[in-house]
Amino acid sequence: MSPPTVSVQGAEQILRPPADGLLHLRGDQLDGQTLEPGGLALRDGVITALEPDPLAELTVDARGGAVIPGFVDCHTHLPFAGWRAEEYEQKLRGVPYPEIARGGGGIAASARALRESSDDAVLAQASALAAEMLAAGTTTFECKSGYGLSREGEMRALVLARELEIAVPQTTVSTALLAHAVPSGYTADAWMEVVQAMMPEVLQAGSVTALDIFVESIAFNNEHLALMGELAASAGLALRCHVEQFAGHRSVPVALTAGARSVDHLSQIDPQDIPALAAAPCAAVLLPAAEFLGAEHRAPGRALVDSGAITVLATDLNPGTAPVASMPVVIGLAARLYGFSVRESLGAATLNAAWTLGLEHDRGTIEVGKRADLLVLDGPAEMLPYRFGRNPVALAFVAGEPVYVRDEDAAARLRWS
Ligand code: NIG
Ligand code: FE
Repeated sequence: MSPPTVSVQGAEQILRPPADGLLHLRGDQLDGQTLEPGGLALRDGVITALEPDPLAELTVDARGGAVIPGFVDCHTHLPFAGWRAEEYEQKLRGVPYPEIARGGGGIAASARALRESSDDAVLAQASALAAEMLAAGTTTFECKSGYGLSREGEMRALVLARELEIAVPQTTVSTALLAHAVPSGYTADAWMEVVQAMMPEVLQAGSVTALDIFVESIAFNNEHLALMGELAASAGLALRCHVEQFAGHRSVPVALTAGARSVDHLSQIDPQDIPALAAAPCAAVLLPAAEFLGAEHRAPGRALVDSGAITVLATDLNPGTAPVASMPVVIGLAARLYGFSVRESLGAATLNAAWTLGLEHDRGTIEVGKRADLLVLDGPAEMLPYRFGRNPVALAFVAGEPVYVRDEDAAARLRWS
């Protein structure tokens, strides 16, 4: 069945980019987005006009609210098994993450949990989290492998990620995080040889669009990052990387030379590396929930935006550093931790995140011709970071279908003809 024709009417604010057809928003372009009153027409799951359609089958009353693109969460570690709440207690007592990891906790603990969980149990947990994410406005998200820590385990995680996409209303994109922790019995070098050997299998999984690696003293180094870049380039995949999270390793220049699509975390980026990153076609993916909950250093978010980097916000949803599924929470943190305006945060969480996943052509902004992945917020956009911790999403549309209706008040905004 095709989606209904939809008329969105009376919005107090509609978030629009400073121009149509932009691939991403740098520097002032973020604050150049507008939040003006208006309406929209949707047909066949696509935005067809920037004005209401009086003949539409479904009318959406957006009065008093803002209409924005659905959030694109471009950095999550779904699917994973279980949680690690006891580690958080340790962290609160001051035990550093690398020490927890060396003691058999961290990624290795989640790898054990994944191994011991049935496919059904993993998918049930991930689907429940996807529902939580949808209720908080995430209409597209990235999945990563990385808790497999064996050839079979990584392939299983990629298959589960694909099954998750079929089970949830959102679009998902899969990243093969093949170098996350060094599996026991291997050196990092030896494991990279396994990664190289498994590339044909990874490509056959059919849904992987990027490779990823964690560069840290407890994981892999810059040489492995360069090698992962070569593997990605020869496979026609994007390179993503977890860099400069707990300590500075000057990984950013290595990632840029390797043609990375994104550098993620950046809590410890060397200030000297900001200009090159800002000039590159490479996203700076900031993960303020991991920084806040892990008492990590703070990434220079303000300097990255001001210097023109393609700045992105994401949850990093994972059982270790960021058990956070809500983009509104991330946006609230970015306001206070980085001093982002609401327009800056919204652009970082929509178009710039879509660009990171290679999806900017069909989502991430409200433009004629783009997919109608839209949120109706129950108040002006400025309320989102200000009422920190509160979820303002009343309605979520994916490809023109109302897939999330918060409550009776939200349902009363919908009128079928
Ligand atoms: O993005 N830094 C590496 N990976 C995750 C943490 C994984 C875990 O602790 O399970 C992150 O923060
Ligand atoms: Fe991560």
